[in-house]
Amino acid sequence: MHEQNNLMEKIVSLCKRRGFVYPSSEIYGGFAATYDFGPLGFLLKKNIEKAWRKWNVEMRDDVVEIEGAIFMHPKVWEASGHIGGFADTLVEDLVNHKRFRADHLIEEAGIMENAGGLSLEQTDELMAKHEIKSPDGNPLSKAKKFNQLVKTHLGPIEDDSTVAYLKGESCQNIYVDWKNVLETTRRKLPFGIAQIGKAFRNEITVKNFLFRTREFEQMDVQYFCRPEDSPKCYQEWKQNRWDFYTQLMKFDVSHIRWRQHAQDEKAFYATDAWDVEFKFAELGFREIEGVHDRGSYDLDQHSKFSGQDLRYFDVEKNEKFNPYVVECSGGFGRLFLATLFEFYREEGEGDEKRVYLSLPASLAPYKVAVFPLLKNKPELVGKAREIYNILRKDFSVAWDDRGNVGKRYYSQDEIGTPFCITVDFETIEGDGTVTVRNRDTKEQPRVKIEDLVEYITKQLQ
Ligand code: GAP
Repeated sequence: MHEQNNLMEKIVSLCKRRGFVYPSSEIYGGFAATYDFGPLGFLLKKNIEKAWRKWNVEMRDDVVEIEGAIFMHPKVWEASGHIGGFADTLVEDLVNHKRFRADHLIEEAGIMENAGGLSLEQTDELMAKHEIKSPDGNPLSKAKKFNQLVKTHLGPIEDDSTVAYLKGESCQNIYVDWKNVLETTRRKLPFGIAQIGKAFRNEITVKNFLFRTREFEQMDVQYFCRPEDSPKCYQEWKQNRWDFYTQLMKFDVSHIRWRQHAQDEKAFYATDAWDVEFKFAELGFREIEGVHDRGSYDLDQHSKFSGQDLRYFDVEKNEKFNPYVVECSGGFGRLFLATLFEFYREEGEGDEKRVYLSLPASLAPYKVAVFPLLKNKPELVGKAREIYNILRKDFSVAWDDRGNVGKRYYSQDEIGTPFCITVDFETIEGDGTVTVRNRDTKEQPRVKIEDLVEYITKQLQ
């Protein structure tokens, strides 16, 4: 599937058709690149978050998780450097006044692969040399900087005293809360603080579905360590991220790769930065997570701006210092999308054609679906309902009695349900077995009702 040219289109359509993701405010014509997770998307989202949490928090002794507020003191964003330095370079179409990211136009023109680090002068020079026009064919303005923080006002007056910002990067709660977490959990270095939290960016151009949106979620681990341990921790976390994608998410190793940021491309807070890139079929390799060496930048800045001593006291060495931070920051929307790209399958032709999501069982919205062979036979429906109610105690189970069994298989395949159980006449008149149809192999062994929980538990492992 990864060589397909129109996989994005198929995935967007599947998401809409089956209730994974809807355009937000659709009855009003939608609202630029904002999306709602529908019932199945919500279940998949929770399962991805659960997998991430298991790997990064629950299976580790050295990471705790928090959930911070979206509104933070405006000084946070001054200290973090976002008010001064969190800007993209834009150019404006001189005829219709649409604005575009200059680095994206340069990359799309095939001039260079990553143009994010260019200065305004370099951008103007390249745009002139290659005679780059706006996507609508019109001349473009000179490049200028555009701050991405989303600004609002809180309180009864709208003036400079009530300006607030939505979180430009989710991790700032972690730095600001670091001393509280340290003291209340009585941790010793090294240790990490994790968070899945919202971030908001006034992106100039939003495209590719969930890939670039103005409201999104970030899944962060900020790992605090002694300065001299930072290179070692950085390597360990890089390995951890690779293992997360290949072992837990089960992404094919040929679909992910590392890319180091060039010197002039790194964010203002990073001394080293590597992206995990995922191969989004026709879009090619794109960033899904950033692993950054942030040094003591953030704690230094927050100490300076808040006037608070945020230093760690190492009792054994009788030393006080601001720890270094290794940051792993993944985008949830991108991981969700990558999961759909990775596990989308098509096979067969014509009437035999089927689409299925070969999701790892832990991620599938429903683990099992239960059907009565015929809807108008109360004895089949009753038995199926009985089985459904038993299984519901252990698994997330779907019920379906619409259409024929073939259609129900098709429908469950499309949403990635690993097993479909059908109650037929042999169940009630014969040996008390049901068919358990496997999504990927399409095999349908018969299993005794009393063995079902054990059978499915084993298969799901
Ligand atoms: N705290 C570090 C930080 O924010 P980043 O590289 O700007 O670093 C981390 O963002 C991750 O957040 C990215 O790898 C990406 O997955 C996701 N992300 C960033 N901007 C996004 C956007 N506009 N829409 C969706 N995801 C985004």
